[in-house]
Amino acid sequence: MGIIAGRCEYRIWDREDEAVPRDVLEAEVGDVDGLFSLLTERIDERLLDRAPRLKVVANMAVGYDNIDVAACMRRGITVTNTPGVLTETTADLAFSLMMAAARRVTEAERFLREGKWKTWSPMLLTGVDLYGKTLGIIGLGRIGQAVARRARGFSMRVLYTSDRPHPDLEAGLGVERCDLDGLLKESDFVSIHVPLTDRTRGMIGRRELSLMKPTAVLVNTSRGAVVREQELIETLREKRIFAAGLDVFETEPLPQDSPLLELDNVVLLPHIGSASIATRTKMAVMAAENLVRLLSGQEPLNPVTV
Ligand code: DGY
Repeated sequence: MGIIAGRCEYRIWDREDEAVPRDVLEAEVGDVDGLFSLLTERIDERLLDRAPRLKVVANMAVGYDNIDVAACMRRGITVTNTPGVLTETTADLAFSLMMAAARRVTEAERFLREGKWKTWSPMLLTGVDLYGKTLGIIGLGRIGQAVARRARGFSMRVLYTSDRPHPDLEAGLGVERCDLDGLLKESDFVSIHVPLTDRTRGMIGRRELSLMKPTAVLVNTSRGAVVREQELIETLREKRIFAAGLDVFETEPLPQDSPLLELDNVVLLPHIGSASIATRTKMAVMAAENLVRLLSGQEPLNPVTV
């Protein structure tokens, strides 16, 4: 907060257990020049109509699907994000989810805690191997590339989808470009690393899931709405893939009546992809710097456009 406090007056919503309620946000934006936002805040036309002085929205996230960037641009409002600083941390978590889902780590822990462990037995809680398998990466941006680098240490073959070929990365990382259907059919692990846009919303549904191997694992650390959640639930319930690891959901927080909570073959995390102390600190500093730079007439470091 030091970065902002030294440069401008500010009001802060500092409750960690609750996102700023919409009515509070709408009431508070009336006289502000800048907004330091989280992915829990929807910055849409309705909010912008109430913020006539707003010049900058500094989002503390690399993703900015919570913001109507086009509407901001039309009003001359700059939007910024926090790319780069969370890449490795998020890739670590994607890999953790792959391993946890493949080896049934959280299910096994529940089993132990619930007092169900009576004896060692040969097929107890057996999962699938990761080492030497094929990994499909949907979206070879910064985080997708970082996941591919980790996969090399596990001697994995890595396939990727991307709008355009990346010959440099193919040579450097040993990854192979593939179309989505081919990737889904061939991969033992599929990890999603695309931003949520009109094109990617719902891109993984029943048809795509039906192409995956029955032994495959799906991991999503991007945005929940990239996957049609109900169709994934049916796929997991009918055990048509081996497991999934999800850090993101169509509705967050995940509703307590979500059928996902009843399934053992899914690892569920509360959107903590970038949640290391060091990385969240860097994201906060980056967002604050973007905010104060813009307000003091300098170019922001990380403007986003559409
Ligand atoms: C992001 O930055 O977009 C993540 O979802 C939160 O770190």
